[in-house]
Amino acid sequence: MKKVIHIVGARPNFMKVAPIHRAIKARTSLGQLVIHTGQHYDAKMSDVFFADLGLPPPEIHLGIGSGSHAEQTAKMMVEMEKVFLKEKPDLVSVVGDVNSTIAAALVTSKLAIPLSHVEAGLRSFERHQPEEINRVVTDRLSDLLLTPSRDADANLLKEGIDPKHIHLVGNVMIDSLLSSKEKADQLPTLKNLGLEPKGYVVATLHRPSNVDNPKLLAGLLGVLMDVAKELPVVFPVHPRTRKMIAEQGLGPKLEQTPGLKLVDPMGYLEFLSVTSQAKLVMTDSGGLQEETTALNVPCLTMREQTERPITVEVGSNEVVGTDPARIREAANRVLAGDFKKGRVPELWDGRTGERIADLYARFLGVETKRAFG
Ligand code: UD1
Repeated sequence: MKKVIHIVGARPNFMKVAPIHRAIKARTSLGQLVIHTGQHYDAKMSDVFFADLGLPPPEIHLGIGSGSHAEQTAKMMVEMEKVFLKEKPDLVSVVGDVNSTIAAALVTSKLAIPLSHVEAGLRSFERHQPEEINRVVTDRLSDLLLTPSRDADANLLKEGIDPKHIHLVGNVMIDSLLSSKEKADQLPTLKNLGLEPKGYVVATLHRPSNVDNPKLLAGLLGVLMDVAKELPVVFPVHPRTRKMIAEQGLGPKLEQTPGLKLVDPMGYLEFLSVTSQAKLVMTDSGGLQEETTALNVPCLTMREQTERPITVEVGSNEVVGTDPARIREAANRVLAGDFKKGRVPELWDGRTGERIADLYARFLGVETKRAFG
């Protein structure tokens, strides 16, 4: 039996792998294994997502955990190589741009195993971001480059990638969003937080370029405190950000701001239940720019660039940089009802997992159970 290995490690991976895993199971006779690197290890950053997304627990857990980039990536590579030599996969499927992705890409290609990259071709053109390095290297090494939008195809072609390796499949994360929306809508999250639909803002911050810089972090948190004077702000705090807030002694000031609700990282369904009803989302996350576009919720991205320009060109996203005055002005505008109405990009239709499963089956010479749909 031909076998696909999926690599997961960090929070944004789980919602991308779940629909692919489900579709491969439903439509093909391929065997599959999920390897969790352990990059994210807190239950709230990992375990809860498997339950929420109906992804079976990983068959293999490498238990790597945190470390410097070199340390974390190298440890993952050493352990993955052992597993790949034993399991002999016919294809390794990686998603996104995290350290687990690049570690798997390097090991897979050095063992001459075919490599597929889901979410290929995204570029922020900011080489100081670890994610950008992970994207560029993973794409360079991949045999199948599966893109979420046409801008990603264009980036790859400009880098000299042979078009026969590029496949526009759509955005797989939106499969998870659409299949979970009904369940999320039934959760009592808003009631528990004392919020009204469209009566609050959701904020997230975790990019090293934002939160590891004390001055920038203080400025961005200052904006959230200001916005909280207008409308309640729900702020699920990423572990990296929590650590920086504590180190900078900013905790008490934040906790004492009425209207600013600092909460632990949320599960997938719980978080979807708050983002889908928010009046505004303020973030530096990549995935959230896409989710708000699919939900048509206004999003302000607190970064200088986005690797997901389709969310700005077509969707409801606006890149507002990191200058507090500019962000505050944009937030006031949205809260006053002046924001752009987006559309949902092509192929963000909930069927990307199926297209990927069929592509893998064709690539590996295995029949699909159902016609390409
Ligand atoms: C990683 C990804 C980033 C992604 C983000 C989503 C890379 C280079 N970055 O960033 O692209 O958007 O995940 O969350 O792969 N920590 C915990 N518990 C955990 C995980 C992390 O406490 O379960 C703490 C550790 O102190 C760790 C720090 O957070 O040092 C950062 O974790 P790490 O996995 O290195 O990167 P993220 O910032 O989470």
